[in-house]
Amino acid sequence: MERKTVVIGVTGGVAVYKALDVISRLRKKNIDVHVIMTESAGEFVNPLSFQSLSQNMVVTNMFDEPKHWEIQHISLAKKADLMLIVPATANIIGKVANGIADDMLSTTIMATHAPVVFAPAMNTNMYLNPIVQNNIQKLKDYGYKFIEPESGRLACGDVGAGKLADTELIADKVISMLYPIKDMSGKKVLVTAGPTWSLIDPVRFITNRSSGKMGYAIAEEARDRGAEVTLVSGPTSLKAPFGINTINITTNEEMLNEVLEHFNSQDIVIKAAAVADYKPVEYSQNKIKKASNELVLNFAKDTDILKKLGEIKQNQVLVGFAAESNDLISNAESKLKKKNLDYIVANDITSSDTGFQSSENRVIILTRDGEKLSLEKMSKREVAQKLFDIINDKHKEV
Ligand SMILES: Cc1cc2nc3c(=O)[nH]c(=O)nc-3n(C[C@H](O)[C@H](O)[C@H](O)COP(=O)(O)O)c2cc1C
Repeated sequence: MERKTVVIGVTGGVAVYKALDVISRLRKKNIDVHVIMTESAGEFVNPLSFQSLSQNMVVTNMFDEPKHWEIQHISLAKKADLMLIVPATANIIGKVANGIADDMLSTTIMATHAPVVFAPAMNTNMYLNPIVQNNIQKLKDYGYKFIEPESGRLACGDVGAGKLADTELIADKVISMLYPIKDMSGKKVLVTAGPTWSLIDPVRFITNRSSGKMGYAIAEEARDRGAEVTLVSGPTSLKAPFGINTINITTNEEMLNEVLEHFNSQDIVIKAAAVADYKPVEYSQNKIKKASNELVLNFAKDTDILKKLGEIKQNQVLVGFAAESNDLISNAESKLKKKNLDYIVANDITSSDTGFQSSENRVIILTRDGEKLSLEKMSKREVAQKLFDIINDKHKEV
């Protein structure tokens, strides 16, 4: 993979330390990172932290003795494949929107042809100030990109919009802009993720240990390869990924309705959700009282959504997951046949370091024509990559 260079502009806001995490994530992807700090940013943190993490000299003063014969703001502007301003103050946004280039960072932004991404962070009143909003709009109109801040509790104690976006999301967005493998553009992919809830009464439900991480990783991989992705997700603690149509559901029935509504228009459907197999025969409208020593609930089979999709499928590539605690391969093989699937991803949930909740997985991918691909333990995102490599290779016509 060709090595890319990101120039990170760090400006003077309280979220300044979070830029370190973004840099560390980019460095893990072998991206060459150069940091320019404003004078105000230097009031919050010492450039040394940025220097150690980026493994490059941090540039602060435009009039420093040049380290090389090149003029630094021009050389960094030319070197950059992308510039990321994190955190971006109201001040830097205002300066760039109005053509001001009075320090190293604003001058480099002005001089670059690379895409420039701002991740703003500031007090809510500042962020919602119409002057700041107009500056943001003006920059967007010029083609500058923004990673919108979140709403939440801010450092000043106020609650509202202005909190720096999640650092993982910022790094992911930058990486996907730098390495856009678009071998799935034009394809429509539906992914299901997470558990479902089987409701007992207004306050109680039964669920399972699915974290949703596998399905979200698949959805993000498809998005980054150019597909139009719909993610139908049960309740998880994960954030809705950017650029993905995420539909939140709770029960098996809601999952079924959403999946059926989107199924016909899809090219690939991957059911990574752990959908409930059973639900209480009767849902109690009122909270069940603590009356007797024992409580007996009767459960009835709920809809097997995957099986239903296998029955109605036309040209869709249909992929299921088999989370098994015994006879992994034979159970997965019979599920693949019974449900008319094209692929099944089998994982052994008894292993404590992979599977449910974990960020890693060890799986075997079985194909319709009897092939078995055993993958070593790897991140769920890497499993997603392998899965799409196989599907794209075998189903070039899809
Ligand atoms: C403690 C403190 C926290 C600040 N936090 C922010 C902030 O989160 N966002 C922001 O836009 N400005 C913030 N400011 C104001 C900026 O530091 C100020 O506008 C400065 O001129 C920005 O300069 P720069 O954009 O060149 O880094 C803060 C100031 C102080 C003293």
